[in-house]
Amino acid sequence: MADDGKSRSTLKPVERRTFLRYSLIGSVGAGLVGFGLGPLGMLWPRLGDGLFGEVALGDARDIANNVLNDRTPLRIPDGGISVLVWDPSSSAAMRAYGDDHAILDDTTGLMAVNSQSCPHLGGGVPWCQSSQWFECPCHGSRYNRYGEWQGGPAPRGLDRYSSFVDDDGQFVVDLGNPLTGPARTANALEQPPEGPACIDA
Ligand code: FES
Repeated sequence: MADDGKSRSTLKPVERRTFLRYSLIGSVGAGLVGFGLGPLGMLWPRLGDGLFGEVALGDARDIANNVLNDRTPLRIPDGGISVLVWDPSSSAAMRAYGDDHAILDDTTGLMAVNSQSCPHLGGGVPWCQSSQWFECPCHGSRYNRYGEWQGGPAPRGLDRYSSFVDDDGQFVVDLGNPLTGPARTANALEQPPEGPACIDA
């Protein structure tokens, strides 16, 4: 059928008000989806990290020895993890951290803390070699060697992941099982700063 312009003129145009209404609904909907998915994303390892689920990070004993010798947590940039050594013979530590972390022997455990996301507002939390603490440059939250809160606006200690030693002696971190960091009052493995801080108070 020929288009003589008449048929086009009989089509009902989309009213400006209707268009604006749909646009508004679309915008609000997209915002709500984003708002809802945001917190979910925080529970999930970031896509760019490239590590998911259970990840073997190497021989557990070697990792513990290196961390102790270097006095530096093993940093795994993929996954945003820092691996530290803790003492499971401490009853306070066992009460605070329990069986969710790798235990090598009576006095040696490994723990994987989430050092890429400060519990305050999500900033990265670098290790400070001189103080032997984790110190967040964003707003000054500080955490001792074990990721326990020591000051600043963060509501708790560094979050962590469940971990274990497998049958081959490998230290395995379960990135699918994040654990909320200890309460501010936990301080089970008290460790004062051992030198100058890396950030201003
Ligand atoms: S994001 Fe770390 S103190 Fe605010």
